Amino acid sequence: MSDLLVHDQEGVRFLTLNRVAKKNALTSHFYAELADAFEAAVAESSVRVLVIQGHETVFSAGNDIADFIQRPPHDGEAPVFRFLRAVSACPKPVMAAVAGPAVGIGTTMLLHCDLVYAGDNALLSMPFVNLGLCPEAASSLLVPQRLGHVRAAQMLMLGEPIDAATALEWGLVNAVLPPTEVNAHVERMALKLASKPVDSVMTTKRLLKQAHAQDVAQRIVDEAQQFGRLMAEPAAQQAFAAFMTKRN
Ligand code: COA
Repeated sequence: MSDLLVHDQEGVRFLTLNRVAKKNALTSHFYAELADAFEAAVAESSVRVLVIQGHETVFSAGNDIADFIQRPPHDGEAPVFRFLRAVSACPKPVMAAVAGPAVGIGTTMLLHCDLVYAGDNALLSMPFVNLGLCPEAASSLLVPQRLGHVRAAQMLMLGEPIDAATALEWGLVNAVLPPTEVNAHVERMALKLASKPVDSVMTTKRLLKQAHAQDVAQRIVDEAQQFGRLMAEPAAQQAFAAFMTKRN
């Protein structure tokens, strides 16, 4: 069974993260599937809206740490960067349904989505510092822009998670619903969005994002350099080793 399920409904392409036994942790293979799916959806004129969704118990545990150790991204063409470019620069509207834990890139990818709906069990965290790492996916730019510096520091420097109610209060999600209803709600909203004039919707998205689009692309590259450097340092190596020891 594929890690990513893809289906279409009335102009909406649904991408469902489907590695639930591993909490939808993202391997390089999984990133490649996501990047391919985004590129295909952008190329197909019949697709007007994209939806990323997980399971009602988990959105994503972020990078698959075991895979990350075995296959660290070596250059800008690594699947993780292909995915980040695809989601951050997607010209079509992207919506997300997030329930349960959303760790690391599970949260940072939401910053690039246009509409985000959360289950009341959602727990958003970006614990990069706890792993000896630093922000990615332009989160060092977008989180302080969206939340202000002290809340950004709470999430990105202390590595504290926030629950769904806080995410709503802080403007990271549009609404909070029971976890069993969040995917269905996003489906309704996506069909509604897909029924609107496509050029108008895409032009509006481009205009909303225009002020920061270049900065976002550059920040993803800058963060990746620091992330790569920190990965080789003892703090990250020890954090990865501790995770692997717990698993075995
Ligand atoms: N990378 C690799 N495997 C992961 C993973 C990750 N990021 N997150 C979870 N898994 C695996 C676990 O090793 C476990 O595998 P096993 O069943 O073969 O032992 C399985 O997924 C279930 O995880 P578990 O921790 O038992 O589930 P939980 O419900 O108790 O906790 C999380 C869920 C997401 C809170 C927890 O798994 C977690 O904190 N994961 C790490 C998140 C992380 O640090 N990500 C990197 C961010 S940069």
